[in-house]
Amino acid sequence: MTAIEAIMKRRSIRKFTQEPVTKETAMQLVDAAAAAPSAMNLRPVRFILMDKHDMAKLAETIDQKQPFEQGRWAIAVCADTRGYTGGTGWLEDSAAALENIQIAATALGLGALWYGVYRRAAKEPQVRAALNLPEGVECAGIAVIGYAGENKDKHGKVGEKFVFESTWKE
Ligand SMILES: Cc1cc2nc3c(=O)[nH]c(=O)nc-3n(C[C@H](O)[C@H](O)[C@H](O)COP(=O)(O)O)c2cc1C
Repeated sequence: MTAIEAIMKRRSIRKFTQEPVTKETAMQLVDAAAAAPSAMNLRPVRFILMDKHDMAKLAETIDQKQPFEQGRWAIAVCADTRGYTGGTGWLEDSAAALENIQIAATALGLGALWYGVYRRAAKEPQVRAALNLPEGVECAGIAVIGYAGENKDKHGKVGEKFVFESTWKE
């Protein structure tokens, strides 16, 4: 699969089959995440690999349980902002890492979900507690990984209302 094919095929997968995914494959996705660009190359992003047991425990405390109950691995994308001098760059770095995971998962024939965490009042406290995050370490989101248990259409060409030429148009 080419990079562009993986990007267009990537969809948010919320149902997964019970087919196992090896830890090596999950770590390949972590490598892909860590390869994302980083503002000023400060690289504050860290990854917490969650197995089925960790995911089941988290699912008990959050509303959107299904992906965590069905997915095979989850990768929490966190940033150590203690002493960080890059402003909001850590959040952008984290988003780039999360997107890399989704595209790499698609390229490997897997499905993935971006579960947003940062500043989500209903989710952030539970995630922080489950991951034992100290103050100053933030979790931007969690990528849930597994073989897709649902079929979704790939993305198509961008609609005209999303593109302006030269300058913004009202
Ligand atoms: C920052 C961010 C946070 C998201 N958080 C969640 C989430 O918590 N739960 C969820 O099911 N989907 C979440 N999504 C996925 C979006 O709902 C999804 O990308 C959108 O519906 C478009 O569908 P697609 O990803 O299949 O193209 C999130 C996406 C982004 C970018």
